[in-house]
Amino acid sequence: MLILSLYLLAIMTFSFLIHLRTRFPTLNATEQGMWTVNSAGRLGNQMGEYATLYALAKMNGRQAYILPEMHQQLAPLFRITLPVLSRFGAWSILWRNYELHDWMSEEYKHIEGKYVRLTGYPCSWTFYHHLRQEILQEFSFHDHIKEEANRYLAGLRGQRQNVTYVGVHVRRGDYVWLMPEHWKGVVADKAYLEKAMGYFRAKYQEPVFVVTSNGIEWCRENIDASRGDVYFSGDGKESSPGRDFALLAHCNHTIMTIGTFGIWAGYLAGGETVYLANYTLPDSPFLKIFKPEAAFLPEWIGIDADLSPLLSGTSG
Ligand SMILES: *[C@@H]1O[C@H](CO)[C@@H](O)[C@H](O)[C@H]1NC(C)=O
Ligand SMILES: *[C@@H]1O[C@H](CO)[C@@H](O)[C@H](O)[C@H]1NC(C)=O
Ligand SMILES: *[C@@H]1O[C@H](CO)[C@@H](O)[C@H](O)[C@H]1NC(C)=O
Ligand SMILES: *[C@@H]1O[C@H](CO)[C@@H](O)[C@H](O)[C@H]1NC(C)=O
Repeated sequence: MLILSLYLLAIMTFSFLIHLRTRFPTLNATEQGMWTVNSAGRLGNQMGEYATLYALAKMNGRQAYILPEMHQQLAPLFRITLPVLSRFGAWSILWRNYELHDWMSEEYKHIEGKYVRLTGYPCSWTFYHHLRQEILQEFSFHDHIKEEANRYLAGLRGQRQNVTYVGVHVRRGDYVWLMPEHWKGVVADKAYLEKAMGYFRAKYQEPVFVVTSNGIEWCRENIDASRGDVYFSGDGKESSPGRDFALLAHCNHTIMTIGTFGIWAGYLAGGETVYLANYTLPDSPFLKIFKPEAAFLPEWIGIDADLSPLLSGTSG
């Protein structure tokens, strides 16, 4: 029995090495080490983790690898290039876990260890904005996704001569109760969306608002579509967010509410981004793990949230 187990282990190790060699012929693990990052959360979190690994590994002169779970979430959408660990490889390496907070720090430029697994939910431009072009390259969409998004947007154009697309992401779902109950905060309300859209209506001749949300029914009831420039899109299915994300990223500008999905949509669209600012009370525990100035680019435009529902004790 023992012999058999050893034999199996030997085969597994051998096949792991072969697997690595064939997939990454230039691998020099002894020299460069192997760094990875946990694969936690959904699309926006995964993108933040990927970009942070990419930037920190490079900064520390290490080779980055992603876990198969992350590859599974990101590769169907993007032309990402970081090599993928095999499941066995990920499991057999004795990683040093290194927990990150959500903004860049001086000590992250000198992380010790050849086999490091970064952990946490980092999603801050402060880690990777100096590599912006490379990050945008990593998150460039596959052709068929790009074509589908552009075809959809072209279909909304109608008779407009000089259209400007504004992607609107309204994060609802679990946040609707998590923000007030857990974080002493609010989610975007009707007035915020009206102000944000007003900004673009005043600035651009023929704006078209492409609304995606995991609460599209709320959007239909609370966003005034009577001007004919608002389109509710996406199927609102949380399980397949890729299509909604591609639509937002192909728009010219972005209105986001809260969450990493909207942050990434704004980052990829690369135009003007309007975000909900100051959406928690000053003593919220949220502000211990989240630094607004590290989440929103300095040139993005914040509109303050209305916190009165928290103060009056009624929510909704
Ligand atoms: C791999 O690393 C070893 C150890 O530093 C070095 O001697 C060797 O030249 C490297 N090989 C390649 C292909 O970079
Ligand atoms: C198109 O619209 C933008 C702003 O929405 C404006 O700056 C530009 O002059 C317009 N171009 C034409 C040809 O009307
Ligand atoms: C706006 O977005 C559309 C769709 O992606 C694109 O074709 C167009 O070139 C963009 N316009 C500007 C001014 O960037
Ligand atoms: C949010 O709060 C900060 C701190 O009180 C303030 O400086 C800022 O102007 C507020 N609004 C926005 C949009 O950042």
